Amino acid sequence: MITVNTLRKMKTEHQKIATLTCYEASFAALMDNAGVEVLLVGDSLGMVVQGHQSTLPVSLKDMCYHTAAVARGSRNAMIAADLPFGAYQQSKEQAFAAAAELMSAGAHIVKLEGGVWMAETTHFLQQRGIPVWAHIGLTPQSVNAFGGFRVQGRGDTAAQLTLADAKAHEEAGAAMLLLEGIPASLGKRITESVSCPTIGIGAGADCDGQVLVMHDMLGIFPGKAAKFVKNFMDGQTGIQAAVAAYVEAVKNGSFPGAEHIYAD
Ligand code: KIV
Repeated sequence: MITVNTLRKMKTEHQKIATLTCYEASFAALMDNAGVEVLLVGDSLGMVVQGHQSTLPVSLKDMCYHTAAVARGSRNAMIAADLPFGAYQQSKEQAFAAAAELMSAGAHIVKLEGGVWMAETTHFLQQRGIPVWAHIGLTPQSVNAFGGFRVQGRGDTAAQLTLADAKAHEEAGAAMLLLEGIPASLGKRITESVSCPTIGIGAGADCDGQVLVMHDMLGIFPGKAAKFVKNFMDGQTGIQAAVAAYVEAVKNGSFPGAEHIYAD
C-alpha cells in the first residue's frame, strides 16, 4: 500500500512517482495494476466527465461520489481527492469539515489550491491527521482571476513568489506539492528546495513525479491538447498498455520530453 512515507522515500531515492487522475472503479483497478502510485480524483472531472468549461461547478458531493468509486476499485495506490472550489477557502474549519468528508469517502490525502495564504489551512488539516497535497502555480480554480489557463511563475519576481508558496506549504507540513504550468527551471528549483515530493504537470522533467489527466493521456478529450500533454495511446493496442507505457515513461524520465515543457 502506497503511503506518504513511501513517496517521501521515493524522493530521497530518486525514483519517479507516477500519478494519474482517476474518477471511477474500473480505471482505478486498471491503473493500480499498471503500477500508478497515486490516483488523483481531480476536480478536473468537472471538465472531462461532466462537460463544464472549468472545475468551478464541481461540488463536494460529486467529489465524494467519485472518491468512493475509486477507493472501491483500487488496492495499492494512494488515493488523493481534490477539495472543490468553494468548499474550503472560507475558513480552516470549513476546510476540515470538507476534507473529513473526502477522507470518509476513501481518500488518503486531500489536495487544495493556493499559495502562502492557504498554508495556514494546510497546517490546520495536517495537525488534525489529514495529509495535504498543496497545488501551486497554475491553480485551475483561479482561472477567472488569471484571465485564462496561463503559465505562472515566469520572470524573477513571479518565480520568487511561487517559490515562497512552496516553502510556506512545506513549513506548514504539506505531504506533497503539485506544481502546475510553470517554467521547467522553476519546477527544478522548487523540487530541490523542498523535502516533500513534488508532482508536476507542465512543470518540467525534474519534479519528483508527474501527473496527467487520464482523458488527456488516452487522447479522448476533444479540442487542442495543452503543450504538456502526451497521448500514450499512440502506438498502443489498448488502454492497459497505454497506462503501462505512461508509468514506464515517467519512471525512466522520458516523459515529459523537451516538447512538453515551458521555457522561462
Ligand atoms: O483536478 C485535476 O485533475 C488536477 C490536475 C491538474 C492534475 O488537479
